[in-house]
Amino acid sequence: MNVLICGGAGYIGSNMTAMLAQAGHKPIVFDNLSNGHKQAIKGFDFIEGDLADLDLLVKVLKENKIDAVMHFAAFIEAGESVKKPLEFYSNNVCNTQMLLAAMEKCGVKKFVFSSSAAVYGAPDKTPITEDAPKNPINPYGHTKLAVEQMCRFQSQTIRLRYAALRYFNAAGAGANGTLGEDHKPESHLIPLVIAAAMGKREDVKIFGTDYPTPDGTCVRDYIHIEDLCSAHLLALEKLENQNELVYNLGNGKGYSVRDVIETVKKVTGKNFKVTEVPRRPGDPPVLTADATRAIKELGWKVKYPELEKIVETAWQWHNDNPEGYK
Ligand code: UFG
Repeated sequence: MNVLICGGAGYIGSNMTAMLAQAGHKPIVFDNLSNGHKQAIKGFDFIEGDLADLDLLVKVLKENKIDAVMHFAAFIEAGESVKKPLEFYSNNVCNTQMLLAAMEKCGVKKFVFSSSAAVYGAPDKTPITEDAPKNPINPYGHTKLAVEQMCRFQSQTIRLRYAALRYFNAAGAGANGTLGEDHKPESHLIPLVIAAAMGKREDVKIFGTDYPTPDGTCVRDYIHIEDLCSAHLLALEKLENQNELVYNLGNGKGYSVRDVIETVKKVTGKNFKVTEVPRRPGDPPVLTADATRAIKELGWKVKYPELEKIVETAWQWHNDNPEGYK
Protein backbone atom coordinates (compact mmCIF):
# COMPACT_ATOMS: atom_id res chain seq x y z
CA MET A 1 0.00 0.00 0.00
CA ASN A 2 1.01 3.61 -0.51
CA VAL A 3 0.71 5.05 2.97
CA LEU A 4 0.83 8.75 3.85
CA ILE A 5 2.44 9.20 7.26
CA CYS A 6 1.38 12.54 8.72
CA GLY A 7 3.94 13.42 11.35
CA GLY A 8 6.37 10.89 9.91
CA ALA A 9 9.40 12.87 11.08
CA GLY A 10 8.36 12.56 14.72
CA TYR A 11 9.18 9.88 17.26
CA ILE A 12 6.34 7.43 16.60
CA GLY A 13 5.82 8.43 12.95
CA SER A 14 9.45 7.85 11.98
CA ASN A 15 9.48 4.40 13.57
CA MET A 16 6.23 3.60 11.78
CA THR A 17 7.67 4.76 8.46
CA ALA A 18 10.67 2.45 8.84
CA MET A 19 8.48 -0.50 9.82
CA LEU A 20 6.03 0.01 6.93
CA ALA A 21 8.91 0.02 4.44
CA GLN A 22 10.34 -3.10 6.06
CA ALA A 23 6.95 -4.78 5.62
CA GLY A 24 6.90 -3.97 1.89
CA HIS A 25 4.63 -0.92 1.89
CA LYS A 26 5.53 2.47 0.43
CA PRO A 27 5.55 5.18 3.09
CA ILE A 28 5.36 8.85 2.11
CA VAL A 29 6.18 11.22 4.96
CA PHE A 30 4.17 14.44 5.38
CA ASP A 31 5.44 16.72 8.13
CA ASN A 32 5.78 20.44 8.80
CA LEU A 33 8.92 19.81 10.88
CA SER A 34 7.51 21.86 13.77
CA ASN A 35 8.42 19.04 16.12
CA GLY A 36 9.84 16.37 13.81
CA HIS A 37 13.42 15.83 12.66
CA LYS A 38 14.61 15.65 9.06
CA GLN A 39 17.30 13.23 10.20
CA ALA A 40 14.64 10.77 11.37
CA ILE A 41 13.10 10.48 7.87
CA LYS A 42 16.08 8.46 6.64
CA GLY A 43 15.73 9.00 2.92
CA PHE A 44 12.06 8.09 2.51
CA ASP A 45 9.82 10.20 0.25
CA PHE A 46 9.13 13.41 2.14
CA ILE A 47 6.73 16.29 1.63
CA GLU A 48 7.18 19.30 3.88
CA GLY A 49 3.72 20.68 4.44
CA ASP A 50 1.04 21.61 6.87
CA LEU A 51 -2.20 19.79 7.55
CA ALA A 52 -4.06 23.10 7.47
CA ASP A 53 -3.35 23.26 3.72
CA LEU A 54 -6.29 21.42 2.14
CA ASP A 55 -5.19 22.00 -1.46
CA LEU A 56 -1.74 20.59 -0.75
CA LEU A 57 -3.22 17.56 1.01
CA VAL A 58 -5.52 16.82 -1.93
CA LYS A 59 -2.61 17.14 -4.35
CA VAL A 60 -0.39 14.85 -2.26
CA LEU A 61 -3.09 12.19 -1.85
CA LYS A 62 -3.81 12.17 -5.59
CA GLU A 63 -0.26 12.39 -6.92
CA ASN A 64 1.01 9.62 -4.68
CA LYS A 65 -2.03 7.39 -5.21
CA ILE A 66 -2.41 7.07 -1.45
CA ASP A 67 -4.31 3.98 -0.23
CA ALA A 68 -4.18 4.70 3.50
CA VAL A 69 -3.28 7.51 5.88
CA MET A 70 -1.64 7.21 9.28
CA HIS A 71 -1.89 10.30 11.44
CA PHE A 72 0.72 11.06 14.10
CA ALA A 73 0.90 14.84 13.66
CA ALA A 74 -0.57 16.12 16.89
CA PHE A 75 0.45 18.03 19.99
CA ILE A 76 0.98 15.48 22.73
CA GLU A 77 1.72 17.07 26.07
CA ALA A 78 -1.24 16.79 28.39
CA GLY A 79 0.20 19.38 30.81
CA GLU A 80 0.81 21.87 27.98
CA SER A 81 -2.75 21.41 26.74
CA VAL A 82 -4.08 22.77 30.02
CA LYS A 83 -2.18 26.01 29.36
CA LYS A 84 -2.89 26.27 25.61
CA PRO A 85 -6.24 24.59 24.88
CA LEU A 86 -6.96 26.52 21.69
CA GLU A 87 -3.64 25.52 20.12
CA PHE A 88 -4.45 21.90 20.86
CA TYR A 89 -7.93 22.15 19.35
CA SER A 90 -6.55 23.95 16.32
CA ASN A 91 -3.81 21.41 15.58
CA ASN A 92 -5.35 18.20 16.88
CA VAL A 93 -8.98 18.69 15.86
CA CYS A 94 -9.21 21.34 13.11
CA ASN A 95 -6.20 20.03 11.19
CA THR A 96 -7.45 16.45 11.44
CA GLN A 97 -10.81 17.61 10.08
CA MET A 98 -8.86 19.05 7.13
CA LEU A 99 -7.07 15.76 6.61
CA LEU A 100 -10.33 13.78 6.69
CA ALA A 101 -11.90 16.28 4.28
CA ALA A 102 -9.00 15.81 1.85
CA MET A 103 -9.33 12.04 2.16
CA GLU A 104 -13.07 12.25 1.47
CA LYS A 105 -12.42 14.42 -1.60
CA CYS A 106 -9.92 11.90 -2.96
CA GLY A 107 -11.81 8.74 -1.96
CA VAL A 108 -9.06 7.54 0.43
CA LYS A 109 -10.87 5.23 2.83
CA LYS A 110 -8.33 3.87 5.29
CA PHE A 111 -7.23 5.86 8.30
CA VAL A 112 -5.09 4.86 11.27
CA PHE A 113 -5.32 7.40 14.06
CA SER A 114 -3.03 7.92 17.07
CA SER A 115 -5.46 8.19 19.91
CA SER A 116 -4.52 8.10 23.55
CA ALA A 117 -5.18 6.67 26.97
CA ALA A 118 -5.93 10.29 27.80
CA VAL A 119 -9.49 9.75 26.46
CA TYR A 120 -10.27 7.81 29.66
CA GLY A 121 -9.35 10.64 32.01
CA ALA A 122 -8.78 9.36 35.55
CA PRO A 123 -10.52 5.97 35.38
CA ASP A 124 -12.14 4.30 38.39
CA LYS A 125 -10.83 0.89 37.39
CA THR A 126 -7.50 -0.21 35.97
CA PRO A 127 -6.35 -1.90 33.80
CA ILE A 128 -8.64 -0.03 31.43
CA THR A 129 -10.73 -1.75 28.77
CA GLU A 130 -11.83 0.03 25.59
CA ASP A 131 -15.42 0.20 26.84
CA ALA A 132 -14.51 2.13 30.00
CA PRO A 133 -16.12 5.60 30.33
CA LYS A 134 -14.44 8.36 28.34
CA ASN A 135 -14.06 11.36 30.64
CA PRO A 136 -10.87 13.21 29.66
CA ILE A 137 -9.42 15.45 32.38
CA ASN A 138 -7.37 17.68 30.08
CA PRO A 139 -7.87 19.43 26.72
CA TYR A 140 -5.42 16.99 25.07
CA GLY A 141 -7.65 14.01 25.92
CA HIS A 142 -10.72 15.90 24.73
CA THR A 143 -9.09 16.60 21.34
CA LYS A 144 -8.28 12.90 20.87
CA LEU A 145 -11.84 11.91 21.78
CA ALA A 146 -13.26 14.53 19.40
CA VAL A 147 -11.26 13.05 16.51
CA GLU A 148 -12.37 9.52 17.38
CA GLN A 149 -15.97 10.77 17.21
CA MET A 150 -15.30 12.51 13.89
CA CYS A 151 -13.95 9.23 12.50
CA ARG A 152 -16.99 7.32 13.73
CA PHE A 153 -19.36 9.74 11.96
CA GLN A 154 -17.29 9.58 8.77
CA SER A 155 -17.40 5.81 8.99
CA GLN A 156 -21.20 5.86 9.27
CA THR A 157 -21.69 8.30 6.39
CA ILE A 158 -18.98 7.76 3.79
CA ARG A 159 -17.70 4.35 4.97
CA LEU A 160 -14.35 5.60 6.21
CA ARG A 161 -12.44 2.60 7.54
CA TYR A 162 -10.57 3.70 10.62
CA ALA A 163 -8.55 2.36 13.50
CA ALA A 164 -8.33 4.47 16.67
CA LEU A 165 -5.31 3.23 18.56
CA ARG A 166 -5.23 4.40 22.16
CA TYR A 167 -1.60 4.58 23.16
CA PHE A 168 -0.42 4.29 26.68
CA ASN A 169 3.16 5.56 27.20
CA ALA A 170 5.34 5.04 24.13
CA ALA A 171 9.01 4.54 25.04
CA GLY A 172 12.36 3.17 23.89
CA ALA A 173 14.13 3.27 20.52
CA GLY A 174 13.30 1.27 17.40
CA ALA A 175 14.57 0.39 13.91
CA ASN A 176 17.62 -1.41 15.34
CA GLY A 177 18.04 1.31 17.90
CA THR A 178 18.42 4.07 15.28
CA LEU A 179 15.17 5.97 15.91
CA GLY A 180 14.73 7.37 19.39
CA GLU A 181 12.72 9.87 21.39
CA ASP A 182 13.83 13.47 21.11
CA HIS A 183 11.32 16.21 21.84
CA LYS A 184 12.52 19.78 22.10
CA PRO A 185 11.86 20.74 24.81
CA GLU A 186 11.57 17.26 26.32
CA SER A 187 8.70 16.65 28.71
CA HIS A 188 8.57 12.84 28.85
CA LEU A 189 9.76 11.00 31.88
CA ILE A 190 12.13 8.35 30.47
CA PRO A 191 14.25 10.67 28.26
CA LEU A 192 14.38 13.22 31.09
CA VAL A 193 15.60 10.64 33.60
CA ILE A 194 18.17 9.39 31.09
CA ALA A 195 19.34 12.99 30.55
CA ALA A 196 19.92 13.24 34.31
CA ALA A 197 21.85 9.95 34.24
CA MET A 198 24.01 11.40 31.46
CA GLY A 199 24.72 14.49 33.55
CA LYS A 200 22.85 16.71 31.09
CA ARG A 201 20.32 17.76 33.73
CA GLU A 202 20.92 18.78 37.29
CA ASP A 203 18.13 16.58 38.64
CA VAL A 204 14.93 14.68 37.93
CA LYS A 205 11.75 16.26 39.21
CA ILE A 206 8.96 14.04 40.50
CA PHE A 207 5.68 15.81 39.78
CA GLY A 208 3.59 14.91 42.81
CA THR A 209 4.16 12.40 45.60
CA ASP A 210 0.65 12.52 47.09
CA TYR A 211 -1.23 10.49 44.48
CA PRO A 212 -3.41 7.56 45.65
CA THR A 213 -0.83 5.01 44.42
CA PRO A 214 1.45 2.63 46.38
CA ASP A 215 4.41 5.04 46.45
CA GLY A 216 2.48 8.28 45.95
CA THR A 217 3.75 8.93 42.40
CA CYS A 218 1.85 8.48 39.12
CA VAL A 219 1.68 5.04 37.55
CA ARG A 220 1.96 4.56 33.77
CA ASP A 221 2.05 1.67 31.31
CA TYR A 222 5.17 1.90 29.12
CA ILE A 223 5.00 0.28 25.69
CA HIS A 224 8.00 -0.13 23.42
CA ILE A 225 7.87 1.88 20.21
CA GLU A 226 8.28 -1.22 18.01
CA ASP A 227 5.43 -2.98 19.76
CA LEU A 228 3.29 0.09 19.28
CA CYS A 229 4.14 0.23 15.56
CA SER A 230 3.60 -3.50 14.97
CA ALA A 231 -0.01 -3.08 16.19
CA HIS A 232 -0.50 -0.35 13.56
CA LEU A 233 0.62 -2.69 10.81
CA LEU A 234 -1.82 -5.34 11.98
CA ALA A 235 -4.63 -2.79 12.25
CA LEU A 236 -3.91 -1.52 8.75
CA GLU A 237 -4.27 -5.06 7.39
CA LYS A 238 -7.50 -5.58 9.32
CA LEU A 239 -9.01 -2.47 7.75
CA GLU A 240 -9.26 -4.50 4.52
CA ASN A 241 -12.48 -6.00 5.87
CA GLN A 242 -13.45 -3.90 8.93
CA ASN A 243 -14.81 -0.36 9.21
CA GLU A 244 -14.19 0.53 12.80
CA LEU A 245 -11.38 -0.65 15.05
CA VAL A 246 -10.61 0.67 18.53
CA TYR A 247 -7.72 -0.76 20.54
CA ASN A 248 -5.76 -0.01 23.67
CA LEU A 249 -2.03 -0.39 23.10
CA GLY A 250 -0.15 -1.01 26.31
CA ASN A 251 1.72 -3.69 28.21
CA GLY A 252 -0.83 -3.93 31.00
CA LYS A 253 1.81 -3.36 33.68
CA GLY A 254 2.05 -0.21 35.74
CA TYR A 255 5.29 1.48 36.79
CA SER A 256 5.40 4.50 39.09
CA VAL A 257 7.63 7.51 38.49
CA ARG A 258 9.90 6.19 41.25
CA ASP A 259 10.01 2.75 39.55
CA VAL A 260 11.14 4.43 36.31
CA ILE A 261 13.86 6.36 38.13
CA GLU A 262 15.13 3.19 39.85
CA THR A 263 15.07 1.26 36.55
CA VAL A 264 17.11 3.96 34.80
CA LYS A 265 19.61 3.92 37.69
CA LYS A 266 19.92 0.14 37.36
CA VAL A 267 20.27 0.09 33.57
CA THR A 268 22.74 2.97 33.40
CA GLY A 269 24.63 2.32 36.64
CA LYS A 270 24.47 6.09 37.29
CA ASN A 271 23.17 8.02 40.26
CA PHE A 272 21.60 11.47 40.11
CA LYS A 273 19.62 13.93 42.15
CA VAL A 274 15.85 13.49 42.49
CA THR A 275 13.69 16.43 43.59
CA GLU A 276 10.07 16.16 44.68
CA VAL A 277 7.87 19.00 43.41
CA PRO A 278 4.08 19.60 43.30
CA ARG A 279 1.78 17.79 40.86
CA ARG A 280 1.73 18.73 37.17
CA PRO A 281 -1.79 19.83 36.10
CA GLY A 282 -3.76 17.32 34.03
CA ASP A 283 -2.00 14.12 35.19
CA PRO A 284 -4.26 11.17 36.10
CA PRO A 285 -2.89 8.99 38.95
CA VAL A 286 -2.92 5.60 37.17
CA LEU A 287 -3.15 4.60 33.50
CA THR A 288 -2.66 0.94 32.65
CA ALA A 289 -4.09 -0.88 29.66
CA ASP A 290 -6.13 -3.99 29.24
CA ALA A 291 -4.95 -4.78 25.69
CA THR A 292 -6.75 -8.13 25.45
CA ARG A 293 -8.79 -6.96 22.48
CA ALA A 294 -5.73 -6.10 20.37
CA ILE A 295 -4.02 -9.33 21.39
CA LYS A 296 -7.05 -11.45 20.48
CA GLU A 297 -8.38 -9.67 17.41
CA LEU A 298 -5.14 -8.52 15.81
CA GLY A 299 -2.93 -11.35 17.01
CA TRP A 300 -0.69 -8.63 18.47
CA LYS A 301 2.40 -9.91 20.26
CA VAL A 302 4.47 -7.68 22.50
CA LYS A 303 8.23 -8.20 22.21
CA TYR A 304 9.22 -5.91 25.10
CA PRO A 305 7.01 -6.60 28.12
CA GLU A 306 9.67 -5.49 30.65
CA LEU A 307 10.44 -1.86 31.47
CA GLU A 308 14.13 -2.66 31.90
CA LYS A 309 14.48 -3.81 28.28
CA ILE A 310 12.55 -0.77 27.04
CA VAL A 311 14.83 1.55 29.01
CA GLU A 312 17.92 -0.28 27.69
CA THR A 313 16.95 0.57 24.09
CA ALA A 314 16.33 4.20 25.04
CA TRP A 315 19.65 4.42 26.94
CA GLN A 316 21.52 2.97 23.96
CA TRP A 317 19.98 5.53 21.58
CA HIS A 318 20.79 8.46 23.84
CA ASN A 319 24.36 7.21 24.15
CA ASP A 320 24.65 6.97 20.38
CA ASN A 321 23.01 10.40 19.96
CA PRO A 322 24.07 12.45 22.98
CA GLU A 323 22.80 15.68 21.45
CA GLY A 324 19.65 14.05 20.06
CA TYR A 325 18.81 14.67 16.40
CA LYS A 326 20.83 17.53 14.98
N1 UFG B 1 6.84 13.10 35.21
C1 UFG B 1 7.61 13.49 36.29
N2 UFG B 1 8.70 14.27 36.02
C2 UFG B 1 9.06 14.66 34.77
C3 UFG B 1 8.25 14.24 33.69
C4 UFG B 1 7.15 13.45 33.94
O1 UFG B 1 7.32 13.18 37.44
O2 UFG B 1 10.05 15.38 34.64
C5 UFG B 1 5.67 12.23 35.47
C6 UFG B 1 4.38 12.81 34.96
O3 UFG B 1 3.82 13.68 35.91
C7 UFG B 1 3.57 11.55 34.72
C8 UFG B 1 4.61 10.51 34.31
O4 UFG B 1 5.85 11.03 34.76
O5 UFG B 1 2.96 11.15 35.89
C9 UFG B 1 4.68 10.29 32.82
O6 UFG B 1 4.77 11.55 32.18
P1 UFG B 1 5.07 11.73 30.64
O7 UFG B 1 5.11 13.20 30.38
O8 UFG B 1 6.26 10.93 30.26
O9 UFG B 1 3.84 11.04 29.94
P2 UFG B 1 2.27 11.28 30.13
O10 UFG B 1 1.73 10.09 30.85
O11 UFG B 1 1.97 12.60 30.71
O12 UFG B 1 1.75 11.35 28.64
C10 UFG B 1 2.12 10.42 27.65
C11 UFG B 1 2.04 11.09 26.29
C12 UFG B 1 0.64 11.40 25.95
C13 UFG B 1 -0.22 10.18 26.10
C14 UFG B 1 -0.07 9.60 27.48
C15 UFG B 1 -0.88 8.35 27.61
O13 UFG B 1 2.79 12.29 26.28
O14 UFG B 1 0.57 11.86 24.65
O15 UFG B 1 1.28 9.31 27.71
O16 UFG B 1 -0.68 7.74 28.84
F1 UFG B 1 -1.51 10.48 25.93
